[in-house]
Amino acid sequence: PETGCLSIIVLGASGDLAKKKTFPALFHLFVQGFLQSNEVHIFGYARSKISDDDLRNRIRGYLLQGKTTDSEQLEEVSKFLQLIKYVSGSYDSAEGFQKLDKEISEHEISRNSTEGSSRRLFYFALPPSVYPSVCKMIKHYCMNKSDLGGWTRIVVEKPFGKDLASAEKLSSQIGELFDEPQIYRIDHYLGKELVQNLLVLRFANRFFLPLWNRDNIDNVQIVFREDFGTEGRGGYFDEYGIIRDIIQNHLLQVLCLVAMEKPISLKPEHIRDEKVKVLQSVLPIKDEEVVLGQYEGYRDDPTVPDHSNTPTFATMVLRIHNERWEGVPFIMKAGKALSSRKAEIRVQFKDVPGDIFRCKKQGRNEFVIRLQPSEAMYMKLTVKKPGLEMSTVQSELDLSYRQRYQGVTIPEAYERLILDTIRGDQQHFVRRDELKAAWEIFTPLLHRIDNGQLKSLPYKPGSRGPAEADELLEKAGYVQTHGY
Ligand code: BG6
Repeated sequence: PETGCLSIIVLGASGDLAKKKTFPALFHLFVQGFLQSNEVHIFGYARSKISDDDLRNRIRGYLLQGKTTDSEQLEEVSKFLQLIKYVSGSYDSAEGFQKLDKEISEHEISRNSTEGSSRRLFYFALPPSVYPSVCKMIKHYCMNKSDLGGWTRIVVEKPFGKDLASAEKLSSQIGELFDEPQIYRIDHYLGKELVQNLLVLRFANRFFLPLWNRDNIDNVQIVFREDFGTEGRGGYFDEYGIIRDIIQNHLLQVLCLVAMEKPISLKPEHIRDEKVKVLQSVLPIKDEEVVLGQYEGYRDDPTVPDHSNTPTFATMVLRIHNERWEGVPFIMKAGKALSSRKAEIRVQFKDVPGDIFRCKKQGRNEFVIRLQPSEAMYMKLTVKKPGLEMSTVQSELDLSYRQRYQGVTIPEAYERLILDTIRGDQQHFVRRDELKAAWEIFTPLLHRIDNGQLKSLPYKPGSRGPAEADELLEKAGYVQTHGY
């Protein structure tokens, strides 16, 4: 691992993302010893004219909320907060970024030993509209200047544009200033334990190798549900909708890992090469294989226009045109304000040919990977119903992480991903060509929705979404299983 002074600069430090995700992730890394106080300094930068202590108090409040704190915990929080300094300035002013650079340099001079290099990590907890100007400012004023090596990296998060053209424009603006190895595009689903497990599962288990294809798999579902609505984010959400918010990024990344071919090694470039190939094999999405919904009450948010057609729910079928997957529907489903919170992958196998037990009605083999809540993997299979009768029943082989790995804390996605950015590992980050391919898949459909060619159907909050979505699922070949 590299040593030397590490400066983590959180841009947009007074905002919500920084408070809820970035600082807590940094805190957890600190507690686990990944951020050493003799090397690391954290700088918050934002427009608000607040003091170091104001920012620290905000973060303290969030870190300690609802917790019964013992003195050890309080001390850890205090030690962490001592690492944080605040600099205020706008996102396009030379003055602000010169001031920031001065602070970082002072820290580097005071902390750096002669053998150390300087590492500067800029975390953009910012709206993408300011990415281009912030990138320019960093490039002009804040790059690592150490003669002893080190680096400057930027961490950015979606939304990367609204469609192919705007995303490509943003990519070029950033790409003119930074090289690809300096750019970390976060998709936090790639930091989830069971998403990271997909490669291991698929390529380290003999069980799956011969079965993972169109000969055996009937359909795949990738599902995201939330049991709450847009809650104060209506204004942002209405511009983007559920497809840009969840499907085009989070669920599509999961699809890549489920569908890709085996990479020639675990090197980030080899993995990402395979992901791009899958994306490039996805066929155009057909309107008749899309159901959109909007929950009743969504437009009550004053920041949402009265006639908004923005979907808060979508189910659609993606089709991959290659030797492994032709004919297998990948059903993508995401919705807000539904009956439960859950993200899972369901791989449904075909019926057993020549079934002598006549157990078709009970359901098919299904392999379910539950990403959240309570990480688990289970396999639905048919067994003899215990007892004197020779009849069958659906049962499960179940691996529940909480039971099996008691005492192991599963890290938060952001924690893991920020650590990767410090270590320089880009495996779990989205490459530019991957992003482009993802937009190529969805842009025509998104334009048709934006033009009003496709309408969102109303659904009741707390429901399963529009009934038409279940019909689409059935049409795509999914068979509901009835166990027990
Ligand atoms: C974000 C979306 O990227 O992911 C949110 O913008 C969504 O709308 C969130 O709520 C879901 O993340 P998680 O990790 O809770 O599934």
